[in-house]
Amino acid sequence: MYALGDTHLSLTVNKPMDVFGGAWTGYVDKLREGLSVLREEDTLVLCGDISWGMSLEQAEADFAFLDAFPGRKLILKGNHDYWWNSAAKMERFWAEHGFSTLHMLHNNAYEYGGFALCGTRGWFYEEDAGGHDEKVFRRELIRLEASLKAAGERRKLCFLHYPPRYQGYTCPEIIALMEQYGVEQCFYGHLHGGSHRLAVEGRNGSVEYHLVAADYLQFRPYRICD
Ligand SMILES: [Fe+2]
Ligand SMILES: [Fe+2]
Repeated sequence: MYALGDTHLSLTVNKPMDVFGGAWTGYVDKLREGLSVLREEDTLVLCGDISWGMSLEQAEADFAFLDAFPGRKLILKGNHDYWWNSAAKMERFWAEHGFSTLHMLHNNAYEYGGFALCGTRGWFYEEDAGGHDEKVFRRELIRLEASLKAAGERRKLCFLHYPPRYQGYTCPEIIALMEQYGVEQCFYGHLHGGSHRLAVEGRNGSVEYHLVAADYLQFRPYRICD
């Protein structure tokens, strides 16, 4: 089982991340190489910021790129996933295009090797510049709890897009939910470039945290377990 965030693909819409230079130069080739470890029996959780497409159609080539690798991919929403749609629309689009390995992680939980895989986008107070949107925030908490409840008594791993904590920042409500439901490890993305140094890694409270943004991992998925 692997986790990777922030693939930021743009194979249909021309918005390649290479323009940022540094780690992002040639990132699609690096991703292709990194994801070549995947086997049929594997699960890869993609922690948001999957595609720059503004609609499902504009993300089609990015879905095709991901679907071409063996194994199941569980996709959660990032702040740049404007193509995100209702579960019914996304599942229909993927089915119509034969993208049989793609699944959404949203108000639900999956299983791998005795672990329940839970998650949602999460919350980031820093984006509250225009005022804290309490309604959206509460909805995220409800989604996370629905996902954790769907896990039942199984051991739990939690996948988020936004970091629930990093240096100088915490989202106490999300952390409280993870601790209350006994989440063992939390994987998150969203932090890029210079923000990597702010990442919280390792145990904090009762949860172990890992940043899995693609540019942090040299575009190689983080191996969680066999
Ligand atoms: Fe990102
Ligand atoms: Fe992001």
